[in-house]
Amino acid sequence: MDRENKRRIYLDNGATTRTDPRVVEAMLPYMTAEYGNASSLHSFGVKARDAMEKARATIANAIHAKPSEIIFTSGGTESDNLAILGFVSANKGRGNHIITTRFEHPAVLNTCKHLESEGFRVTYLPVTREGIVGLEELEMAITDRTVLVSIMHANNEIGSIQPLDRIADVCKSKSRGICLHSDAVQSFTKLPIDVSKTRVDMLSMSAHKIHGPKGVGALYLREGVKINRLVFGGHHERDLRPGTENIAGIVGFAKAVELMNRTEIASMTKLRDMLIRGIMEGVSDVVLNGSQSERLCNNVNISFKYVEGESLLLSLDAEGIAVSTGSACSSRSLEPSHVLLSIGLRPEMAHGSLRFTLSRFTTEEEIDHVLEVLPRVVKRLRDISPLKGG
Ligand SMILES: Cc1ncc(COP(=O)(O)O)c(C=O)c1O
Repeated sequence: MDRENKRRIYLDNGATTRTDPRVVEAMLPYMTAEYGNASSLHSFGVKARDAMEKARATIANAIHAKPSEIIFTSGGTESDNLAILGFVSANKGRGNHIITTRFEHPAVLNTCKHLESEGFRVTYLPVTREGIVGLEELEMAITDRTVLVSIMHANNEIGSIQPLDRIADVCKSKSRGICLHSDAVQSFTKLPIDVSKTRVDMLSMSAHKIHGPKGVGALYLREGVKINRLVFGGHHERDLRPGTENIAGIVGFAKAVELMNRTEIASMTKLRDMLIRGIMEGVSDVVLNGSQSERLCNNVNISFKYVEGESLLLSLDAEGIAVSTGSACSSRSLEPSHVLLSIGLRPEMAHGSLRFTLSRFTTEEEIDHVLEVLPRVVKRLRDISPLKGG
């Protein structure tokens, strides 16, 4: 069978997901008949605005927020930037210290690095071997100059879930009132989030990780928390995010949120555990990265000794199976993943890591097929590996 006609299995849903056909269907009218600008006063504009406000209420409801606390953005990256840069810009007099972790997504890490170049002091907290932030380390890092803590809800590479409630309690204890932002791009709709109980102030979300369209996301901004806009223009999104709203994208985002349900999460968890068990039993010299118990329902991250993750990825791709590695190609060198290094993996183990991320469309038959193909591919690569032996 040639490559084009080969059966393809997509296990890279942490990178992006297939847009659900029901989402596409919900979006279509807003690109054809109802294409108005939500700021216009005529009926086209009113239809667009109504659809946007309905979507805002759906997204707010999913995290027990008020609709007025949801700001639409172009995705997780922009939400992270708006939260962090917007907050420090609006709260300049209060301090210049930020706390984050070593294993954040680049949307947070590089924003913090930028702020360091502007004179802010940033503490990058370590994480445990299981990929969990220590509350004592957080407590110890806080100074009277700390204004913002940004800690992700679930890690995108290893799926480890952070104790957001307790992190919020530390930020708010002793009348500290430190602002807490959390990147919830990977956890939103997969884990329950209730902002009426968890004292998080800002939360980043993205549609394309949950079968919604790319290029749309949201920032939850707790009432009373002040941030400044990063972009200048009209008065859209409470004067915080100007630009004509992406109505079709926003409607698709809300539809994707509506479609997520507990049954699917249970099914993904079952398939995730089947995949972990199958790999641990079927392939020698492997290590599961991340936490056994505090793990996203769709994440499996494994290090394979004596193989390069890239070779493994390409060999699996040739078999029609799409996964991702723990390495990122940089222009000069093959850098091991900062997330895997943060949990204490040696660079050679980090290089031999694969991430499999499942979705509602993943089937048991697909997992069976991966478990049949993978041991053979790993063996073939190990047989010719210069890393083995010696
Ligand atoms: C944890 C996390 N934060 C932020 C982002 C960026 O989101 P977006 O692609 O919507 O900009 C991603 C996407 O990979 C992510 O996994």
